Amino acid sequence: MNSSAKIRVSTTPQELSATAAEEVVQGANQAVAERGRFTIALSGGSTPKNLYNLLATNALNTLPWDRMFFFWGDERHVPPTDPESNYRMVSEAMLSKVPVSAANVFRVPAENPDAAAAAEAYEKTLRKVFQIGEQGVPRFDLILLGLGPDGHTASLFPGSAALREKARIFVANWVEKLKTHRLTLTLPVLNACRTVAFLVSGTDKATVLRTVLEDSSASGEQYPAKLVKPSDGELIWFLDRAAASALSDKG
Ligand code: 6PG
Repeated sequence: MNSSAKIRVSTTPQELSATAAEEVVQGANQAVAERGRFTIALSGGSTPKNLYNLLATNALNTLPWDRMFFFWGDERHVPPTDPESNYRMVSEAMLSKVPVSAANVFRVPAENPDAAAAAEAYEKTLRKVFQIGEQGVPRFDLILLGLGPDGHTASLFPGSAALREKARIFVANWVEKLKTHRLTLTLPVLNACRTVAFLVSGTDKATVLRTVLEDSSASGEQYPAKLVKPSDGELIWFLDRAAASALSDKG
């Protein structure tokens, strides 16, 4: 297990979302107090959707919405209107309900049929907003991640080429088993972040979570979530009891 990782186990998925929401509120207010803005990369998947719903209701008055800048850690290769779109999900669950300016929302232009071009365009956007040159890596305040049943995170799938990317910050990643491209941040960005938060819920994640956190014989190539180790940042796993049920320390 990564010795610097913090593990927070909640009783229910609802409590998991509430605990993660507290982290977002605290992190956003602290970042704005210290640096004037809060940059967050959002994830897709079903677990974070509850968090987004909660932020739009319970944290409506406690988040510094006008100082928050929203990005996507990964996106499906579909237009923003597609039911599969991570942008669409976040927009429906949260962004359409809160006082955030469109100028603070940076979606991946995944409607471009050329996935590589879409990724390059998003990389350019990131370099511009974070004011980093060609070699720089953005330092997000918070990156939200999920864990797939195969050990993938963001759209870094087992055995996929993006796992080996060192120079690019956002790429199109061919996922053979899905026969599609996914668009994703790369590991250098995940590992340069101030705080990385994984949200993992449900018994169907229990085995893979144990492998990622506790099995030192399993490789990062096979279980990409293992490769997330912020070099100068915090790594927090928000779990519910069901997801934590196979860990040796159940919290
Ligand atoms: C996506 C994701 C992906 C997700 C995991 C977990 O777009 O599919 O960003 O990495 O976070 O697959 O998804 P669940 O929370 O739905 O289990």
